[in-house]
Amino acid sequence: KDMRTVITGQLPASPPPPSGEFGEVRIPAPPTPLSRERLLEEVRGATAIVSTLNDRIDAEVADAAGSGLRVVANVAVGYDNIDVSALQDRGVIVTTTPGVLTDATADLTMGLLLSVTRRLGEGERLLRSRAPWTFELGFMLGTGLQGKTLGIVGLGQIGRAVAHRARAFGMNIVYTSRRRAPEQVEETCDAVHLSFEELLRTADVVSLHCPLIPQTRHLIDAQSLANMKPTAYLVNTTRGPVVDEAALAEALSAGQIAGAGLDVFEHEPEVEPRLLGCDNLVLSPHLGSATKETRNAMTQLAFDNVRAVLRGDDPLTALP
Ligand code: GLV
Ligand code: GLV
Repeated sequence: KDMRTVITGQLPASPPPPSGEFGEVRIPAPPTPLSRERLLEEVRGATAIVSTLNDRIDAEVADAAGSGLRVVANVAVGYDNIDVSALQDRGVIVTTTPGVLTDATADLTMGLLLSVTRRLGEGERLLRSRAPWTFELGFMLGTGLQGKTLGIVGLGQIGRAVAHRARAFGMNIVYTSRRRAPEQVEETCDAVHLSFEELLRTADVVSLHCPLIPQTRHLIDAQSLANMKPTAYLVNTTRGPVVDEAALAEALSAGQIAGAGLDVFEHEPEVEPRLLGCDNLVLSPHLGSATKETRNAMTQLAFDNVRAVLRGDDPLTALP
């Protein structure tokens, strides 16, 4: 039968785009991300959609694709861009890419954590400004990690990988999670389970690894920031809307917390203008999974999921 695989965005250089058993493969011409109008147009007749987190995949998109749609393979571990029940109600399988991006995202989390606590962004801006400077014992002092407490919010695969890395830097680990996971971190990292409020009051660095769901939208708001220590740092590598950016800008400018590292933004790709004025903030443009190895593996896993569904096999990493 006529199969069509629609890829919504530009792919990394490898793996090569699928062919053969994927049916007719459509990769849109630039510009991408696709506008809503073009997305609805491009998906018409799709058997499979390979989507990115820029695309809102919902009932309207499924209906635009038509009744032949069998699988949506999101090239991301997060799936807040997908109305999963609307698709599953229509018999469409939804897959994501867990596992393959865990290490890359945990590495970037440590990068932001180190950058903000050691003032690397500020230091680089100083040098590039060609302002005079000299080594002094009191010059540009940051905060050490040894013996400090890392508070992990959301203990999935990425949260656990961050816990292990932070342990190697001599940090103590506390975490909050819907489920307690003793075998995973309480034993290997001596991690202590706390309530969210206790974690905010205790942690020297708060690192967010929960998914974006209605209950975690603006989890970090003015009240949460007020509960953090004035010497504490916030790191966000999950999804922007977990943090109220206006409240964070306020807290950073007021010195209510010591600093923050952000890889994701509430209204991506926009960044709250007041944040850009905060020197105690390190920014990166959603680079958590952005290594050649990881993007290759994510793309491959999405293709493998599509191939399995089109063959009638079980997909590798489908949402339940
Ligand atoms: C990236 O943000 C992802 O969810 O994979
Ligand atoms: C610093 O550069 C030192 O040598 O201690």
